[in-house]
Amino acid sequence: MAILVTGGAGFIGSNFVLDWLKQTDELVLNVDQLTYAGNLENLAELKDDVRHYFTKGDIADSHLIGLLLSENRPRAVLNFAAESHVDRSIHGPEDFIRTNVLGTFHLLETVRNYWQNLPVSAVKEKITGVCQEEFRFLHISTDEVYGSLTKNEAAFTETHRYEPNSPYSASKAASDHLVRAWHQTYGLPVLTTNCSNNYGPYQFPEKLIPLMIVNALAGKPLPVYGDGQQIRDWLYVKDHCSAIRRVLEAGKIGEVYNIGGWNEKPNLDIVHAICALLDEFRARPDNRSYREQITYVTDRPGHDRRYAIDAHKIERELNWKPTETFETGIRKTVQWYLERPDWISNIISGNYREWIKTQYTLI
Ligand code: NAD
Ligand code: TYD
Repeated sequence: MAILVTGGAGFIGSNFVLDWLKQTDELVLNVDQLTYAGNLENLAELKDDVRHYFTKGDIADSHLIGLLLSENRPRAVLNFAAESHVDRSIHGPEDFIRTNVLGTFHLLETVRNYWQNLPVSAVKEKITGVCQEEFRFLHISTDEVYGSLTKNEAAFTETHRYEPNSPYSASKAASDHLVRAWHQTYGLPVLTTNCSNNYGPYQFPEKLIPLMIVNALAGKPLPVYGDGQQIRDWLYVKDHCSAIRRVLEAGKIGEVYNIGGWNEKPNLDIVHAICALLDEFRARPDNRSYREQITYVTDRPGHDRRYAIDAHKIERELNWKPTETFETGIRKTVQWYLERPDWISNIISGNYREWIKTQYTLI
């Protein structure tokens, strides 16, 4: 059997593919458009692995995805592909609408066509291979669709009202609604996960944690937006991967599962934790703390104040819990970036993708 993963050269997708092939020998078809965020270097260890089949392509390309489906007959499609960075969505929302909304729509239609042509039941029809009953479409989404919480409000449950505030979260909210509609209307067997902020190896250094590590080591300012008291709920990426595997295997069709790490932290605490670990592992030549590089900068427009995930449902119904605390996860993460100066410098220099130099300047 096989699964098809979209966006598998990005941060979470590549961690998922690596993790999947450590757990099972099931073939992974990986389709990724290789935008600025897609990096095949993340998957370097799979270069000669016949269980991983990479195709450069767009989720909106129905012809390509249709061919991959009909030729390889995967038992599941996991949709990680997205434009994922809030700041970029503020400066250029169009790509977010194109991939997250239209791309998801085209993917759903292509997958529906494939699914409708599968045998209904492998048991009843006495066949081996994939069938409609066993097929799943798993859509990976974010807690940002629920909007912003005040300090004392209860954490987001799966029934929390959708109230997205950024072009990114609005586009992900739209994609979630499309996925729901394809289940309600056409019966496509979907599952949706809404996860809190991830961190860990291979995260592009535009997001808070890798950006702070990379800038600190380069002697650059550590830009904290506004007062730095915005709260995010952090989940180590490998815990996210194990949750997705669990939802794929045991989740109830049509259901939504929130995934979180029970790690609410203000941004400034995160930056302080990173500085303390860097002070410990790689002291500055002048022996002063990396904290001295913290710089307060203008706040992000429409900046959500607080996210917090109530992950009781996935714990209760699917028996999933994160294994890392923030303290253990951030230690591993800082160590990983210190051990991979090659990975960082290839991104900063643009060597992993020549054209990035003309598109974006990393601060
Ligand atoms: P990422 O930006 O690191 O990776 C996205 C990947 O999708 C890239 O490899 C990119 O090349 C690919 N891609 C973009 N447009 C595509 C298209 N049209 N067709 C095919 N591939 C395309 O993102 P990430 O952080 O790995 O996030 C993965 C998913 O998880 C996203 O759907 C995101 O909304 C969701 N999510 C992320 C977080 C987080 O903290 N990073 C939290 C919750 C949910
Ligand atoms: P980010 O990693 O962009 O994730 P998201 O916006 O999806 O939560 O940002 C996490 C938090 O860190 C968010 O509140 C914005 C803040 N932030 C900074 O203060 N400085 C930065 O340079 C970045 C990238 C983010």
